[in-house]
Amino acid sequence: MKIRIVGGGPGGLYLAVLLKKHNPDDDIQVYERNRPDDTFGFGVVFSDETLGEFLEYDEPSYRAITESFAYWDEIEVHVGGQVVRSGGHGFCGMARKQLLLLLQRRARELGVKLHFQSEIRDLAGFADADLIVGADGINSRVRELYRAHFRPQVDERPNKFVWLGATKPLETFTFIFRNTEHGLFQVHAYRYDQELATWIVETTEDTWRRAGLDRASEADTVAFCEKLFAEDLAGSRLISNRSIWRSFPTIKCERWVHDNIVLIGDAVHTAHFSIGSGTKLAMEDAIHLYEAIRRHPGDVRAALAAFEAGRREEVSILQHAAQVSLEWFEHTPRYRGVDPLQLAFSLLSRSKRITYDNLRLRDADFVAAVDRWFAQQVRERFGFAVNTEKPVPPMFQPFRLRDMELANRVVVSPMCQYSATDGLPNDWTFQHLTSRALGGAGLVFTEMTDVSEEGRITPGCTGIYRDEHVPAWKRITDFIHAHTRAKVCLQLGHAGPKASTCLPWQDRGMDWPLPEGNWPIMAASPVPYRPESQVPREMTRADMDKVIADFVAAARRALAAGFDMIEIHMAHGYLLSSFITPLMNRRTDEYGGSIENRMRFPLEVFDAVRAVWPAEKPMSVRISATDWVEDMGVTGDDAVVIARLLRAHGVDIVDVSAGQTSLRAKPVYGRMFQTPFADQVRHEARIATIAVGNITTADQVNTILAAGRADLVALARPHLANPYFTLQAAARYGVAEQYWPPQYESAKAQLETLARRQNEELAELRAAARPEKPREALARLDALRLRRVG
Ligand SMILES: Cc1cc2nc3c(=O)[nH]c(=O)nc-3n(C[C@H](O)[C@H](O)[C@H](O)COP(=O)(O)OP(=O)(O)OC[C@H]3O[C@@H](n4cnc5c(N)ncnc54)[C@H](O)[C@@H]3O)c2cc1C
Ligand SMILES: Cc1cc2nc3c(=O)[nH]c(=O)nc-3n(C[C@H](O)[C@H](O)[C@H](O)COP(=O)(O)O)c2cc1C
Repeated sequence: MKIRIVGGGPGGLYLAVLLKKHNPDDDIQVYERNRPDDTFGFGVVFSDETLGEFLEYDEPSYRAITESFAYWDEIEVHVGGQVVRSGGHGFCGMARKQLLLLLQRRARELGVKLHFQSEIRDLAGFADADLIVGADGINSRVRELYRAHFRPQVDERPNKFVWLGATKPLETFTFIFRNTEHGLFQVHAYRYDQELATWIVETTEDTWRRAGLDRASEADTVAFCEKLFAEDLAGSRLISNRSIWRSFPTIKCERWVHDNIVLIGDAVHTAHFSIGSGTKLAMEDAIHLYEAIRRHPGDVRAALAAFEAGRREEVSILQHAAQVSLEWFEHTPRYRGVDPLQLAFSLLSRSKRITYDNLRLRDADFVAAVDRWFAQQVRERFGFAVNTEKPVPPMFQPFRLRDMELANRVVVSPMCQYSATDGLPNDWTFQHLTSRALGGAGLVFTEMTDVSEEGRITPGCTGIYRDEHVPAWKRITDFIHAHTRAKVCLQLGHAGPKASTCLPWQDRGMDWPLPEGNWPIMAASPVPYRPESQVPREMTRADMDKVIADFVAAARRALAAGFDMIEIHMAHGYLLSSFITPLMNRRTDEYGGSIENRMRFPLEVFDAVRAVWPAEKPMSVRISATDWVEDMGVTGDDAVVIARLLRAHGVDIVDVSAGQTSLRAKPVYGRMFQTPFADQVRHEARIATIAVGNITTADQVNTILAAGRADLVALARPHLANPYFTLQAAARYGVAEQYWPPQYESAKAQLETLARRQNEELAELRAAARPEKPREALARLDALRLRRVG
């Protein structure tokens, strides 16, 4: 085969090595515009996992890599004069130049022809090639030649960064945060040989401009950064090498293959440097492409199709992690004032790959310190006499809102059961709520319970609009208070434009109008939710007064029914949400237009309820923190404005949900996918938050809390499958103090023993699956060979 590779970066060279090794008869040539030792940038990093794969595919280059790298295990976070250290991370760093030189040497040794100072402008010279690989980096010429086919999307990120070197042999992967009069600067630094470190400086565009760096020469940049980080550099110098301030482009391509041309590495996808994976991705692409070619001998097109089909998902998972990570660094100014330990935890867990449990395996002392810090906060802020020496994990720490004390941080999220008749809670409602309370959650929400008959979503929704509803609710709250330690929150709502619709399992399902027996509906504006929905009437002042009176009457009944807390539902496209989102609110009076205007009626409702709800009892509000509709609708930044208004009116905690306000929404699903909004609202609006949305494990609950992304964590569907989520987690974490009703107490010891055994089994499995440290792997291979020779 004739193979032509454009670009002699890590991706192109490694591919040449693997292919030539596999088939020495192939004619493989690499074209690189630079000279062999002419490379921009400084060091690259690999994790233990990545190195393990390199060993499998080409031992000589693996050996050469491990001989020249600097290995380290710890991450340090420098902030506010403090240094926080966490171990167990296993990285190696090496000079990019060194990596390229050793891959060039290996390629030559195998017979690959390398052409340096050969810039490829078009592919005319490769007409007879069987395979052409565009491994030509971020500004790929090959990609641009066939732009219309590959359809690249380039997302230029707002932050500015510059890639520098430092004559400082750092011991750890180091993150530095430094406040200046211009704003916050941060450094990502790691050692790559005996003497030198990569030193990437990053900041927001505003701060960069304020500091005058938009006009700075390379020398000015070095001088500025040396002064700013003088303390951290401790006499060492910064070095530049075509070090200009840039914005990071996240690149994705709709297609990776065109006839016999394929793109790999940065040419086809990029991943932000904060997860240190661009080189890894390029070299793994090379491995996957090599595998595809090996498996489809003589059929290049089939091989390329298999490569793209097999590799896309993995790349998109990594790009997603990189996206979450880069966004964390874009938003660091919001964490000003956060304790260094919590900031470090938030940093480490930013891209969801490292969690509380995972970090406990890597560095148990670090997590123990976080637990102690968390417990001290609970003691100092709320006055709970919790154990701060040997604290329980954050999930099991108590919490207080006004006079309401919660035994732990787990919330059963509101879930409509659509099983009531005429709003009256019945046996189903009773068992649904009481069994979840028995399962150990600190706070149990009722389903959205409507303030009027016409405010129901469906004919099966519960209500609290008649005095007869009160005893039925009281039976539930009495049971929960008598037999569990849970508190109960009533979620009060009015369905507005989504009222008078089917039960999920009836006719056409959720959000569709009833087949018959519809009642008139109203909303902020006459905007139907679905094209098939009833058109709601635009609310008049009289309608607003009636709704306020209904909410107030409902709150009075809630008090009589023994609820501990009320949540006003302002999310998901229901009545109050229809005022907040501009997608549904078209009003031209003082209730439409600006966010302040759109919030006016929801706040009138809140104020009226707050006035009759006892001062010692808390209130929350659920919001849709985004409409998930690009360029329109509510965004995370709007949610901050909304939350600030709520806080000013006395809301105690914001329940941060998202979406369900428009059929045009394009939610970005994933684990804990709405939690970033809880984090943003909590830090930018400075109000307590509840995180919710695809949170499924106790590990995730602990991660969210320890990182300070929320104060409480709500789970909906996991509680349907497992009401005992909290008590089971307590057994797994060895937390004995959570309350078990005496009737069920005999199960506790057995569950705890079982959990201990499972933990031990899991620890063994994990130890066996741990990637080998590079030098351990080599020693094992050498010993094996010696034994064979012997
Ligand atoms: C600030 C910063 C820090 C980074 N830190 C890390 C890190 O720590 N770890 C990590 O793994 N990655 C890191 N990366 C990413 C890493 O540099 C790239 O992701 C990686 O090098 C991609 O490899 P590649 O082979 O696809 O492309 P490249 O390494 O960019 O190689 C492409 C090659 O093609 C050549 N070329 C381009 N056009 C032509 C042409 N027309 N003709 C001939 N030759 C051409 C170029 O000269 C270049 O040598 C970082 C990136 C940045 C910007
Ligand atoms: C069956 C069901 C009913 C729901 N009913 C309500 C509700 O009444 N009020 C509300 O605010 N959210 C409601 N939700 C949304 C949940 O409270 C929660 O925000 C959402 O399901 C995401 O959490 P999860 O991933 O843990 O399920 C409901 C969800 C489910 C699955």
